[in-house]
Amino acid sequence: MERLNGDSLKAISDIVNRHKDEPGPVIVMLHDVQDTLGYIPFEAMEQIAKATGTSVAEVYGVVCFYAQFTTEPKGKHVINVCLGTACYVKGSQALIDEAIAETGAQINKTSPDGVFSLDATRCLGACGLAPVCVIDGRVIGSCTPKVLNAEIKKIKAAEAAMA
Ligand code: FES
Repeated sequence: MERLNGDSLKAISDIVNRHKDEPGPVIVMLHDVQDTLGYIPFEAMEQIAKATGTSVAEVYGVVCFYAQFTTEPKGKHVINVCLGTACYVKGSQALIDEAIAETGAQINKTSPDGVFSLDATRCLGACGLAPVCVIDGRVIGSCTPKVLNAEIKKIKAAEAAMA
């Protein structure tokens, strides 16, 4: 497992120290770590467990229970594909397949190069636009694999131009 850098470890211990005497410290600490680092590394779960007298397994259980916590760093660009019923029946599985093929990221994971995260989400409340993708916060309704492919290629080209 990759080790965290010193800054991240310090951020985690500051968070743990700040909240350890508050009620419901595990959740409060997890929120703070998620907001600060963008994900919950294993080292944070270890420190939180130690400081609150619980086990890493229990902290991990909390992390898995709440959708807002993630155990992986997010990619630079986040692609959400709605897998709610309306979107699913209109073909969002094909969008997921396209996104995996084009980015190399698996569902709810980040691509090995760290550029893309692929999130499968529940109904986004825009069923009239099904199937819906959201790329970096931009909603794309009536999305097709072709449209998604073009959007991903655009991001890749912009990234390559910056490199
Ligand atoms: S099911 Fe996708 S927006 Fe509602």
